[in-house]
This record gives sequence, structure tokens and C-alpha cells, in this order.
Amino acid sequence: MIPENLERGNFGSRFGFILAAAGSAIGLGNIWRFPYFAGEHGGGAFVLVYLVFVVLIGIPVILAELSIGRASQKNPVGAFRALAPGSAWPVVGLLGVTCAFAILAFYSVVAGWTLGYLYESLTGGLSGVTTAEKSEALFSGMIGSPLLPIGLTAAFMLLTVVVVRGGVSGGIERASKILMPVFFVLLVVLAVRSMTLPGGSEGLGFLFGFDWSKITVKVVISALGQALFSLSLGLGAMITYGSYLPRRENLWTSGATVAFFDTSIALLAGVIIFPALFAAGGDPAAGPGLVFVTMPTVFNALPGSTLVGVAFYSLLVIAALTSTISLLEVVVSYFIDERGWGRGAATWTLGSLCFLLAVPSALSQGAFASLSRDGLLGRDFLDVQNIVFGNYALSIGALFICLFVGWRWGIAAAAREIEHGGHLFSMKKAWSVLVRFVCPLAVLTILGFIIYTQDYF
Ligand code: PHE
Repeated sequence: MIPENLERGNFGSRFGFILAAAGSAIGLGNIWRFPYFAGEHGGGAFVLVYLVFVVLIGIPVILAELSIGRASQKNPVGAFRALAPGSAWPVVGLLGVTCAFAILAFYSVVAGWTLGYLYESLTGGLSGVTTAEKSEALFSGMIGSPLLPIGLTAAFMLLTVVVVRGGVSGGIERASKILMPVFFVLLVVLAVRSMTLPGGSEGLGFLFGFDWSKITVKVVISALGQALFSLSLGLGAMITYGSYLPRRENLWTSGATVAFFDTSIALLAGVIIFPALFAAGGDPAAGPGLVFVTMPTVFNALPGSTLVGVAFYSLLVIAALTSTISLLEVVVSYFIDERGWGRGAATWTLGSLCFLLAVPSALSQGAFASLSRDGLLGRDFLDVQNIVFGNYALSIGALFICLFVGWRWGIAAAAREIEHGGHLFSMKKAWSVLVRFVCPLAVLTILGFIIYTQDYF
């Protein structure tokens, strides 16, 4: 994963890298953000557009980022500087570093909620949650209190700082080799249970039923943002991880494997949430609370619900942690490489600053009225940050990464990096067309439409 020492280390094995990159990709984006976006944006229409973007934009950009990282062996800013000396391209890296910081500032709040739920499940607080109303009350009570969300955010940020500070190739990497497959199996079990709930099939119809009339610009930009967010793209996380990857490894198969697992887990989350939601008669457009409110009803439909709950939230906390690690690592690696900071000073300072930036988001769920939903934009502060950075900034980042690889550094140089070591890159032609033309034009068209309709949130 992230190297122990300050020298640029390498991932021990290909499996270790895939695990680290998949660890970055798989997180709250899959379990929390995907279902809530899908619910808010009409279900099947959103899911189909999202899947198209994963293939046509996500996979090409993951390869672009990995090749930039591995060729330059640098953090996002240093990478652009190394490959295009004397140009303005490092600004794209700086945008990415800023974006990672801003995403971490709301992600850690939601990650804090998962810690809160882990606590509830450990102390039996979820066993009484038998109806949707009770579940809703528990959730809004937790996130709407003034102090608890701040404390939970602080605790999660502390965990992240400790891991990034200490280097993770030991404990966390070894642990996640076992835990992530366990998470996968648990999700499959939950999905089967949820689908077989009475009334559950309606949820599947919502998730996979396609309806053209539901596709709007908002649905399209949200699906694009979600594809990039979920794959950790557009801000240089994969540039950073690519820089730790040994040159003999196959970028194309590694990148495609990560995209495959990430997408499967998002779909699994949808298959758990929507049948259970429809069975309980809930509203798919409930927003950021969707997953938190729905999950306890799935556990309570299973034997050993307490144990299932504890297992689910522990694994979700770990999945979120392997993502926050990658976000903080992007920022930290920039300050170490480009500004000469020590790892210890960088992690503690940046982690603390990011926590301060997270406080308004933590307070925006009911504790502080002017930051809440009825604020100016009809979105609370957390959601505004989520949309601005998670959708728009990542889309702009991905656009520039494609333009850089396609037109500045050059497809030939990038393809040489991907083929290094004699690996066959059978999709080279298609990739070149996607990176040079399809991705930039698609992103520009979508952003153009958004500006035209001025329907930003
Ligand atoms: N992909 C992560 C998730 O789905 C979030 C993330 C986004 C991490 C961007 C790094 C960079 O939870």
C-alpha cells in the first residue's frame, strides 16, 4: 500500500496493489453514495448511464492516471511537472490535491456516522429498530446532535491520520487481504436476504428498470460524478498509487480488475438497499440518510441480527478507512515531495486542518439551521460540498487528465508505459479514441448543458 519509509517505496505484490487501489475505490462511494444518488435520480436510468460512464470514461481515465503516476513516480503535482516541464499543467495536479482535501472534509463526516452505527450495533441499539420511523428517528437523532457528529468525525480523522502517518503496508494491508473478501461475501448474503423480502422485487424493478424519460442533464452529470468518485478518479489518487507500482506490473489488467470489483460492489449495495426499502415502503429519494435508515431493517430480518450488524459496520468502517487513507495520502504526498515537509508533520497538520473544514458539514444535518437543507441552495452544506467537489471538480479533473494524456504527454508515451514489460494492451486503439475524443467531448458537453440550464444542484 503506501510505503513505510519516506523514500518512494513499491507495492510488494500485484495483489497488494490491486487491493490498495480497490481499497481506495471501494468505500462509502459504493455503499452510501451510489444508492442515494440512484434513488434521487430515478433508479434504472441513473444506473444505466453510470455503467456506460464506468466503461467509456472510468476505465480510460484509470489507465491514464496510473500511467502518469508510474511513468513519473511522483505525486499529482510533481507528476505533471515531470512529464511537462515548464508548463502550466501542474495546476491540474494542484486542483486534484485541493479536491482530495475538500472531499475528505465531508467524507470523514459520513465515515463518522458509520462509526456511530458500529457503536449502536455493538451496544444493541439497533435491535429495537423495527420500523422505518424508529430507524429514521435514530438516524436524525445521531447526525442532528451538535456534538456527537463532530466527535465521530474527529475520531475517524484520527484513525486516518494514524494509519497514513505510520505507513500501512503492515497491519492494514494484511488485514484487508482477509477482510475485503469477507465484506464481499457478507454483502452477497445481505443481497439475497433483501431480494427475498416480501415486496422486494419492486425494488429490483426500480434499480434496473430503464425509462428514457427519466434521463435529464442532472441525472447524467450525477452519473458521471458518481462513476469518477467511486473509482477514485479525477483528483490524482490513482496517479499517487500508480507511482508506487513496480514497472513490471500490468496496468491494463490491474485497472480493469479494480473497476470490475468497484462496480460489482456498488450494484450489490443497490440490490441490498432497494428491495429492503420498497418492502418497508420507504422513499428512494430520501437523500444521504437512505442507507443508514434502510440497513437496520435488513439486519432485523435475519437471524443473529446483532452479529450481522456488527460485522457490516466494522467492515464498512474499514472500507471507508482505506478510502480516506488514499485521500489524505494525495495531499500528504504533495506536501512531502513538493514542499519538503516531513511525513509526521504533514499528516498531523493536514489532518487537523481538514477536520476543521469538516465541522460545518458535521453541523449541517440539523444542529445548525443555516447550514441545513433549507439553506440557500435547497441542499445542506455537506451535500453542496459533495456535489461541487464529488461531481463537478472531479469531472473537470478527469477532463484535463484526458487532455493531458491525449494531447500533451501523448498517447504513444502513455501506451508505452502501459505496455512496459511486454504486456499486451489489446484495447490500445479504443483507449486512444476514448481518451483523446470521447471523454473530453462528453465531459464538455455535459458541463455545457449544466451551464446552459443553470441547474447546478
Ligand atoms: N472512491 C472512494 C469511495 O468510493 C472515494 C474516493 C474518491 C477516494 C476520490 C479517493 C478519491 O468511497
